[in-house]
Amino acid sequence: MTPELDFKTPANVADPFPLYRWLREHDPVHWSEGLNGWVVSRYADAVEIFNRPADFSSDRFRKLDARYASQREEVRAVADVLGDWLVFRDPPDHTRLRALLQKSFTPRHLEKSRGRIQSMVDELLDAATEREEFDFIRDFAFPLPASVIAVLLGADASDLDSIKGWSDKLAAYVGGSVLPQDNFQAAREGLDCMVDYFGALLREKQRRPDDGLMSLMLRAEHEGDSLSPEEVVSNSVLLLFAGHETTTNLLGNGVHHLLRNEEALHAVQTGGARVEDAVEELLRYDGPVTATTKIATRDLEWRGAKIERGQMVFPVMSSANRDESVFQRPDELIPDRRPNRHLAFAYGIHFCLGAPLARLEAQLAVETLLRRFPRIAPLEAPPRWKPQLILRGLETLPLRLEG
Ligand code: HEM
Repeated sequence: MTPELDFKTPANVADPFPLYRWLREHDPVHWSEGLNGWVVSRYADAVEIFNRPADFSSDRFRKLDARYASQREEVRAVADVLGDWLVFRDPPDHTRLRALLQKSFTPRHLEKSRGRIQSMVDELLDAATEREEFDFIRDFAFPLPASVIAVLLGADASDLDSIKGWSDKLAAYVGGSVLPQDNFQAAREGLDCMVDYFGALLREKQRRPDDGLMSLMLRAEHEGDSLSPEEVVSNSVLLLFAGHETTTNLLGNGVHHLLRNEEALHAVQTGGARVEDAVEELLRYDGPVTATTKIATRDLEWRGAKIERGQMVFPVMSSANRDESVFQRPDELIPDRRPNRHLAFAYGIHFCLGAPLARLEAQLAVETLLRRFPRIAPLEAPPRWKPQLILRGLETLPLRLEG
């Protein structure tokens, strides 16, 4: 049976996987009127898009997408800041920015954060035991990654609530909301606040450098080149944004599925599956970033589709991750699955810069949660997914914590 080919229906937002399967089988490069772009659902095709940045550009704000050349001031204001983000740049700008930012994201710096992240996990779980009701999203999965990245950047923990508010406003736009409202005004307000906040923080770090990410970015040098203060501010906003809602949703989606899959849960609890492998499988099974947007830089005939220059193309990683030609029993959660070459962090030159950090946070969180609360269970409540297409996550996840 042909499913409803509208990605935005509540049923498809709640469970897009039957639609993805149908597309992989029947229309792997699908023109979506509703999304105004090409939906690419097979693994090999998604990888090919990531491998051809000259044909499938990430620079949707600067070059090609006519919608952003609109006269509306708030649209251009959002595009101006987002257009500086590494994730929305093509080579050679991307190559330069990535080389500089990578200097601040070394395994050595990450290893130094392990103890801090573990303490934050422990503190949040200590506080959780004192609550009458524990919502895993509100009380753990949100504050953990937000605190981690804010603290790594050198922000003050007391500013976290404000930062969350600003970031949420932006998320409604970047996350691909399915609601019909205009998100630009809110996105702009959120962005303006974050740019002001990090601008002030930058001036402080210029006066008193520390070992935080912002100071590292200011000091980073590659082949005689360095980041301008504006680039440090813009990419701090990116790191804050990229580093928190995504990881919140990895924790939320992951724990949601793990607690509903008895066999998988048991394997992780008893050491039958390593937590590192389980986290990879949770990323594959229902990852936090379902797809990304690329722009065709020229007219192309590809996989039977006539793609025009300037059109949007969406490699859907969450569909690729269920592609039966790559993964055996793709609809099952198999916590010790190996190999597991999922695309949850994308692939190629834009492969997620924060993947090692996200992995570390999720491993420490899942391991500690299950060790401290061996009889943890979900409270009966139908899952409510956020009304977003790209950033996929739960609104709430009430749990019963039992030791
Ligand atoms: C589970 C959590 C995460 C997921 C699923 C995720 C996913 C992704 C994906 C799919 C991309 C590629 C986007 C594209 O090609 O259009 C990306 C890029 C990026 N991510 Fe993540 N991310 C996560 C966590 C993080 C964290 C914790 C950070 C930083 C603190 C981060 C920073 C970045 C940056 C800077 C890029 C741009 C890389 C580039 O363009 O070269 N991400 N991420």
